Amino acid sequence: MKIRICKDYEEVSKAAAEIVRERLAAHPDTVLGLATGSTPVGMYERLAKMCQEGRISFREAKSFNLDEYVGIAIDHPESYHSFMGRHLFDHVDFAPGASRVPWTNGENPLKDCAEYDGAVSAAGGIDLQILGIGSNGHIAFNEPADDFTEETHVTELNESTIRDNARFFNSIAEVPTSAMTVGMGVIMKAKEILIMATGANKADAVYRMVHGGITPWVPASVLRLHPNVTLLLDEAAASKIDRGQIQS
Ligand code: GLP
Repeated sequence: MKIRICKDYEEVSKAAAEIVRERLAAHPDTVLGLATGSTPVGMYERLAKMCQEGRISFREAKSFNLDEYVGIAIDHPESYHSFMGRHLFDHVDFAPGASRVPWTNGENPLKDCAEYDGAVSAAGGIDLQILGIGSNGHIAFNEPADDFTEETHVTELNESTIRDNARFFNSIAEVPTSAMTVGMGVIMKAKEILIMATGANKADAVYRMVHGGITPWVPASVLRLHPNVTLLLDEAAASKIDRGQIQS
């Protein structure tokens, strides 16, 4: 795992956008894995600006998002569909239908999950997977558990995740309690992974991802087994790691 420590959120966002720009410039048909959450918002802003300025294009690219709540209306302002429209898709030039966000109405989740995995495989898998990290070490909505789930699946959200995400809703009671998420298999099969963590509230999760045991109880720790991961941190998120021990 390559670790880069940037001064602050702005620098992390800038470095992340530059990595995406370089990959798209080299391979315009890149298949991107995209994440929601507040962490990638600054990167999306920069990518939208670059696209509007004609410095990058998503015309030949495809994207697959990591996850979506179950039981939320697709046009709810806090659905991940709305989030992606607001922060990226409405501002860049993806071809119609080239960007997918998981969706199930809950009637046949197994079929919806299998169809999503099939679409990722049909696209040739993910070339560059963007990730954030939950304060409990989750990635996408792969929550700490006894085992990893490889495939896309529907999962119950942990209490800590519901609490963390309550800031986006009027009250904690409105936060959906389950989600459809890609499994660890989709993420680990990505050719390259870019994971970002910013802010002091991520320092413990980052410490456990980098220095703790590799365990499904800290889903992000498994990324240490992937051959091509870049971890971008700001100073606050990096505050607990042992800088002497990391290779950067
Ligand atoms: C949600 C998403 C994750 C994201 C995490 C952290 O749980 N499913 O993909 O990494 O939130 O969000 P934030 O970046 O807002 O801290």
